[in-house]
Amino acid sequence: MGVSVSIMDQSSPKYQQVWDLREAMLRTPLGLSLKNEDLSRDNINTVFIAELDEKVVGCVLMEPKNAETVQLRAMAVYNEQQGKGVGRLLVQALEQHAARSGYKKIILHARKVVLGFYKSMDYQQVGEEFVEVGIPHYHMEKALNLDSVD
Ligand SMILES: CC(C)(COP(=O)(O)OP(=O)(O)OC[C@H]1O[C@@H](n2cnc3c(N)ncnc32)[C@H](O)[C@@H]1OP(=O)(O)O)[C@@H](O)C(=O)NCCC(=O)NCCS
Repeated sequence: MGVSVSIMDQSSPKYQQVWDLREAMLRTPLGLSLKNEDLSRDNINTVFIAELDEKVVGCVLMEPKNAETVQLRAMAVYNEQQGKGVGRLLVQALEQHAARSGYKKIILHARKVVLGFYKSMDYQQVGEEFVEVGIPHYHMEKALNLDSVD
């Protein structure tokens, strides 16, 4: 069975699997924990998950910033599933949902080590390097239109 991507209801029991994935891929390697963070902004986010054999193997969150712009955040795929197009599927699902919801632009904070991932999907680097969760990041953005994501 292949990987399937969908929007997850935050009341779903699978939300724990998303938390575990974010903790394992985005915080533990940095010596940090989500347990020490205020995750209340998650409540206004749309959560996209990639599942394989009913297990969450990838996730990304979409956070509305204003009437035109959303932020892509908490992008993660488990090591064993990386390099197989799962991350791309998740970003494409988020872009389609954002465009159909009327948003015009996606912004994100890209870790320097994965700039190439976002560049391969036409995100543009904007401005100077900055530090977040203790590591170098860049602002990136992409203009949306329905033609380009359908
Ligand atoms: C970044 C991440 C989400 C990519 O997911 P993935 O499923 O491995 O990515 P895909 O297989 O869909 O790759 C899509 C494209 O990006 C490229 N790519 C993936 N990771 C890359 C990287 N680290 N550097 C440069 N390019 C990369 C792939 O080669 C592929 O390009 P192609 O289609 O031209 O061959 C994943 O590596 C990950 O979870 N990393 C750890 C957590 C993290 O850093 N998250 C991002 C925080 S900003």
